[in-house]
Amino acid sequence: MLQGISLQEILTRLEDLPISQEITDNPIWFPVLEAMHVVSLGLVVGAVLFLDLRLMGVFARKEPMHEAAKVIGLIWLAAGLAFMSGFLMFAPAASRYLANTAFDLKMGLIFLAGLNMLVLHLGVWRRLADWNESAPPFAARLAGAVSLTLWVLIVILGRMVPFTQ
Ligand code: HEM
Repeated sequence: MLQGISLQEILTRLEDLPISQEITDNPIWFPVLEAMHVVSLGLVVGAVLFLDLRLMGVFARKEPMHEAAKVIGLIWLAAGLAFMSGFLMFAPAASRYLANTAFDLKMGLIFLAGLNMLVLHLGVWRRLADWNESAPPFAARLAGAVSLTLWVLIVILGRMVPFTQ
């Protein structure tokens, strides 16, 4: 219970929203939203993996880190589109998705990937001037490796949703 409203009630309210009804009733919406989701997450994951490989020191090593980091603006924009399209596919069948193990794991790993980014930014990123043009320190390489692993797993889990209970 959350202030007198149960989780099931929140899910039912989401499913009953007029926009959810429209997405359920008109068969064009799901494929359009799924295409938006795939294109935007391709951008997010592609750009994140580029940064991860730079953080790990295995790609674009000669590129100053602050130059490589210019891709972060694109990551936020594409992540916004991926979240919006994902939410619009989720809302009409919220109870079914929440009962799906692959979906729950995917959301959990997205949360962990966000946490990993936060730790990176509050930690070793603050001392970027020290390693901007040299080999990244262990903490940066670790954050890159953790992020890369999480995002690959998130994509696999996303694809597993329709094949999982
Ligand atoms: C940026 C992070 C995300 C990534 C990398 C991601 C990844 C994926 C992938 C790979 C698919 C399968 C696409 C296909 O097979 O055509 C998918 C589908 C889906 N995603 Fe995401 N997703 C992300 C964020 C979200 C969020 C935030 C939500 C919900 C709030 C969400 C909800 C969904 C739904 C409902 C589907 C359709 C599942 C089905 O086939 O029934 N996604 N996602």
